[in-house]
Amino acid sequence: MSDHDQVKKAAMNYDANRPKAENPVKVMDLTLRDGHQSLFATRGRTEDMIPVAEAMDEIGFWAVETWGGATFDTMHRFLNEDPWERIRTLKRYFKKTPFSMLLRAQNLVGYRNYADDLAEAFVERAAANGMDIFRTFDALNDYRNFETVVRMIKKTGTHFQGCICYTMTEPRMGGEVYNIDYYIGKAKALEEMGADSICVKDMAGLLAPYDAYDLIKALKGAVSVPINLHSHFTSGMSPMTHLKAIEAGVDIIDAVMTPYAYRTAHAAIEPLVMTLLGTNRDTGFDIKKMASINEVFEKEILPKYKHLLDDSKVSIIDINVLLHQTPGGMLSNLVNQLREMDALDKIDQVYKELPRVRKELGQIPLVTPTSQIVGIQTVNNVLFDDENERYKNITNQVKDLCYGLYGKTAIPIDKEVQKKALKGYSRGEEPITCRPAEVLEPELAKAKEEVKGLAADIDDEILYAIYPVTGKKFLQWKYGKEEPPKEVLARSLEDALKEEEMVRKARKGELIEKAKVPAKGDTVRTFNVYVDDEAFEVGVEDVSGTPMVAYAQPAMPMPAAAPAAQAPAPAAAPAPAAKPAAKPAPAADVSGTSLAAPMPGMIVDYEKNVGDSVAEGETVVVLEAMKMENALPAPASGTIKAINFKSGDSVAKGDVLCVIG
Ligand code: CO
Repeated sequence: MSDHDQVKKAAMNYDANRPKAENPVKVMDLTLRDGHQSLFATRGRTEDMIPVAEAMDEIGFWAVETWGGATFDTMHRFLNEDPWERIRTLKRYFKKTPFSMLLRAQNLVGYRNYADDLAEAFVERAAANGMDIFRTFDALNDYRNFETVVRMIKKTGTHFQGCICYTMTEPRMGGEVYNIDYYIGKAKALEEMGADSICVKDMAGLLAPYDAYDLIKALKGAVSVPINLHSHFTSGMSPMTHLKAIEAGVDIIDAVMTPYAYRTAHAAIEPLVMTLLGTNRDTGFDIKKMASINEVFEKEILPKYKHLLDDSKVSIIDINVLLHQTPGGMLSNLVNQLREMDALDKIDQVYKELPRVRKELGQIPLVTPTSQIVGIQTVNNVLFDDENERYKNITNQVKDLCYGLYGKTAIPIDKEVQKKALKGYSRGEEPITCRPAEVLEPELAKAKEEVKGLAADIDDEILYAIYPVTGKKFLQWKYGKEEPPKEVLARSLEDALKEEEMVRKARKGELIEKAKVPAKGDTVRTFNVYVDDEAFEVGVEDVSGTPMVAYAQPAMPMPAAAPAAQAPAPAAAPAPAAKPAAKPAPAADVSGTSLAAPMPGMIVDYEKNVGDSVAEGETVVVLEAMKMENALPAPASGTIKAINFKSGDSVAKGDVLCVIG
């Protein structure tokens, strides 16, 4: 504490009635959004937030984060839940604590820049449904991408919290680009835009404690609005970072309830409450009340989600951040990608190439979606470039970035890379310098027209406009036009506990004896399961909601490898199809060159129909994978002989998407 004599020994009790601190640290609770997003892939259901909501409302949080980031996407896609309904439902239980959401500025809650009309409608509806604080960020820290949403935030009378994405290029804060002057400049720009508070968004846990001290001190001196620190635990530094930030005068700290703390999530609130107890920054929170909320989480809620926790490692800290100054999650994505392409031995080259690619692409911060953009291009360069030519396979997203569609980069993009990327680019070869959304056509009216008859209100229409494929699917479930699949339905606590018991027994060798295997019913569905190059036929029977494996036997031999997709390779993962395809090519009379899925994903759209002629390299199908849309080019010229999937279908790596003959 900056003022040790402020510590009042007499106040050393947990009682919430203890004397109020002079300048209490305010806390934003992230449990119900970033907490489960970081630990459980955003799979938390509204019904599992209700049991704790009223008690959480009593703690005295400055705000609770309940929405945004990946929730909008995950809820309608994987949980069969209406994201708008979550705000309205939780609002009935949280009567006094304001709601905060993470807004990706012009990207809203999606992965591309949307047109102004859609951005305006989204903010207006989010506020009308109960959102109070809009924490707004842009991956490039280009605040022109804030203009439209901020205008609406102000118009709706809600709180505009402007983010500065924290990133770096050196082991510690500083260097030519991301130094203290950079952050001060950004903070002043936000204040000028009318920010009601400013958030330092350390999404990768890169902010070191002493850098936090210097940074917060400088920001407090430069602007007058409250400063909020959002720092992930990933690298292990965040509890120390919080304390130094508090010493430097930070106003608001983001943290989570203990059961959702650490790993890639955030520091816990309760130790912070204890640390500050009786000081001039005492939060005033009742730690006993928090303990009773944690018990509900532990006993009634988390058993349903435990299976989603990544327990493949003993360590809860990922020190990659400290070694490479890049987000831990991004590096593990790269490792997975290389593994899928049988190129894990190239990881050291990737580590070496990454800072170079990032610099050439304008030294941009690494946060969704820029971390994927830089990461995937780096992998492409390592796999396909040679000493004579670099950037042989440039992804669509890098082309968009070079065009200026994401905004202005921290330093200019390398001229040669930019020129190469924009050669033949559909929007033009000359990059734009204006606010990106200026070149986007209005899109809400068109979306409304497309979803007419299915959407019941503006909220449905916006959902569809942002997520046309999965949004439409969700609306069909919502209005009973299609049966939602089993995997989007909730799991009961009973089922979860039963399953856990079975796993425990299996581990101890107490497996169910053969005699107890129930007779095969007539609802058994057959699935093929592929393990490396072996295939098994598995029968699955639905009994009272829990699918159980009825039988498993080796299936037909694996089909021969599909003809390798030739260059130009697809955008994100141009894997030569070396492994056998996971699904046989269709009917025997369809011969030709197959286009195999280079990675698992979801079909967004086929741009061609059966019978259409295509030229090699022309886009045939758009596949969404790792949150990026990948335009897959025809591996050969010819006529489309067969199309094996449709929009919205999930495909496995190696599935034959179409055949060209
Ligand atoms: Co976060």
